[in-house]
Amino acid sequence: MTYKSMPKVELHTHIEGCAPPAFIRSLAKEKSIDISGIFNADGTYAYRDFNHFLEVYEAACTTLQGPQDFYRLTKAVLEESASHGVVYQETFVSPDFCGGGDVSAWREYLAAIEDAATEAERDLGITLKCVATCVRHFGGEKAQAAAKCAAETKGDFVTGFGMGGAETFGRPADYAYAYDMAREAGLSLTCHAGEWGGPEMIAETLRDLKVTRIGHGVDAIKDPALMQQIVETDVTLEVCPGSNVFLKATGGWADHPIQKLRDAGVKVTVSTDDPPFFSTTMTDEFNMLAQTFGWTEDDFNEVNQTALAAAFCDADTRATVA
Ligand code: HPA
Ligand code: ZN
Repeated sequence: MTYKSMPKVELHTHIEGCAPPAFIRSLAKEKSIDISGIFNADGTYAYRDFNHFLEVYEAACTTLQGPQDFYRLTKAVLEESASHGVVYQETFVSPDFCGGGDVSAWREYLAAIEDAATEAERDLGITLKCVATCVRHFGGEKAQAAAKCAAETKGDFVTGFGMGGAETFGRPADYAYAYDMAREAGLSLTCHAGEWGGPEMIAETLRDLKVTRIGHGVDAIKDPALMQQIVETDVTLEVCPGSNVFLKATGGWADHPIQKLRDAGVKVTVSTDDPPFFSTTMTDEFNMLAQTFGWTEDDFNEVNQTALAAAFCDADTRATVA
């Protein structure tokens, strides 16, 4: 049994991180940018560990230079997602990589991304929402510029605000002002935490940034009291098992905490993060969960419903997808 055609709801992807290496290589060639060092001989992305991954990621992003590039990227990404049964996807988009935090440039990039999303919805039946995202290791000021971009464009397409990047850089409180701006604009909130930073980082993120979802959050398994808090306060985890296994944020598939988190009553969802970087797809994630933990169609239906309930979209969209 393969789960390729089963409908899927995916909450945690990074738009640039979904770019196939061949797509980035062809942009680099068009623009005569030499980034040959970021690829293995077989054409895949080459990096040693998470910090090096972030460097390679940013090098790949230098080839994405205008709204049209993001239009093409979004088209390619949604075609691939739809081919794996994804019917609703949220993606992080960083104003830092789309106009450098300038609001009017950001609007142009967003318009191009939204055009591609509208076409994909019409042609492929996949809905995309955008979570505007700051990059943690770019610091608090850049995060505030990103939050301003997010706040100014909040609407039917930009529905959330988030933060990715190097989790051990700074503390959540350094980004509280940016998150306050986003919250006051009515955006829904998520933040990467507990992939590398331990349960303390999750606890601080919940306390200081008041998010309703946590990106990854797998380190919660190390603190039963925090797990209980997550259950009681209805926080949803955007778990990306293939990413964790590939980057060694957790043990292998058999040791991945998603099963124990779920058993403890934590709301878990399943996403790919940056599929070509981690050699995964939503089909692979579902197949591996079925193979490793014996998850069946009922389990995947439940996970999809959990994801839809925590999705940063309105009730109409939710009803259309469900
Ligand atoms: N984790 C954290 N930050 C990121 C990632 C990721 O997987 N991808 C792009 N930015
Ligand atoms: Zn991520």
